[in-house]
Amino acid sequence: MSTVRFGLIGCGAIHGTHAQALANIEGAKLEAVYDTVYEKACTAGEKFGVPAKKSLKALFDSVDAVCLCVPSGLHSKIGMQAAKAGKHIVCEKPIDVTLKAAQNLIQAGRDNNVKLTVISQHRFAKDIRTLRETALSGELGKLIEGDAYIKWYRTQAYYDSGEWRGTWALDGGGCLMNQGVHYVDMIQWIMGGVKSVQAITRTASHNIEVEDVATALVEYKSGAIGVIQGSTSFFPGLAERLEVHGTNGSIIIEGDRTKVWEVDPNAANDGSPYGRGVSAQPTPNVHSHNEEKSAGGASDPSALWTEQHRLQLEDFTQAILTNRDPYITGEQAIEPLKVILAIYRSAKRNGARVEV
Ligand SMILES: NC(=O)c1ccc[n+]([C@@H]2O[C@H](COP(=O)([O-])OP(=O)(O)OC[C@H]3O[C@@H](n4cnc5c(N)ncnc54)[C@H](O)[C@@H]3O)[C@@H](O)[C@H]2O)c1
Repeated sequence: MSTVRFGLIGCGAIHGTHAQALANIEGAKLEAVYDTVYEKACTAGEKFGVPAKKSLKALFDSVDAVCLCVPSGLHSKIGMQAAKAGKHIVCEKPIDVTLKAAQNLIQAGRDNNVKLTVISQHRFAKDIRTLRETALSGELGKLIEGDAYIKWYRTQAYYDSGEWRGTWALDGGGCLMNQGVHYVDMIQWIMGGVKSVQAITRTASHNIEVEDVATALVEYKSGAIGVIQGSTSFFPGLAERLEVHGTNGSIIIEGDRTKVWEVDPNAANDGSPYGRGVSAQPTPNVHSHNEEKSAGGASDPSALWTEQHRLQLEDFTQAILTNRDPYITGEQAIEPLKVILAIYRSAKRNGARVEV
């Protein structure tokens, strides 16, 4: 195979990001689109110059891989159908909203010998990659604290724009499961995994089932501590921040850009950020010409620049063409889901300490 033919499943808010990304990847091609609302598929098909298929089967018959851009609680169900049809899978985040569903999708991928990646596009942002490499190299010293602040804003109209939004069944949670999952993923990826959480959540300013404010104290596997704070209630929506502190310095990234970078040049580096004998997967080594234009989603969910998606889809395309694992696997995508579900369990128990 020299070109991977992709099909988009779900033609709502995020599908255009995938379509535009695919248009700029060598070895990838958008082939067809599908949505249960046929008119939406037709509009997308016209826009991107590909046929709108009338059934999932018809889509599967014409592609090698699919991008799942459907409500989160449907990822596993539709992904498993794709796997059984022998199609490689790009799944939007989160992998699904329960551990069981996520595990089923991973298993279906393995059983049917298809590749699976779950979108966590900010892992491909240059400054985030540099932060992780620096932390991993030991330059920051032993990591002491890692915080993620996602003080975003969404209107009630946003939640009312889709029946699935803000529901336990299909959104799986609120500001953490939907918006915050990116930063939960990155802070646990940088800090080397979460051990336990103690959390309080609220539904403070929207008419929804799920939380729109969440604050958790975190203990990482290394013994480092931190805060995960997510919201969709904080007008006007502030740039998300990752703050990492080690014995040799502090790095703060705001909106995927470095805000503070203070590392003691004279400090000793014994190369063990998580303590001795603990290692982690290398950070992706990718090159991007377009990153300068990147925008965040603090107040406008559509203000997402496609470059990071493009980098992840490019990695996935290469994974298929060269028969290797994608950089972000289903197994990795389960980690932030576990953390968020532990936060919800803790909040239900009035902030009790819960193991992830
Ligand atoms: N990576 C990111 O930054 C990012 C940003 C936005 C959304 N997302 C994720 O993308 C997914 C979709 O979100 P969205 O905002 O585009 O939602 P949306 O409601 O705007 O679009 C979902 C689309 O899926 C269609 N659909 C529903 N059930 C379907 C089915 N069974 N088969 C085919 N199509 C079906 C709907 O008709 C709709 O057009 C969610 O999981 C969300 O978390 C990720």
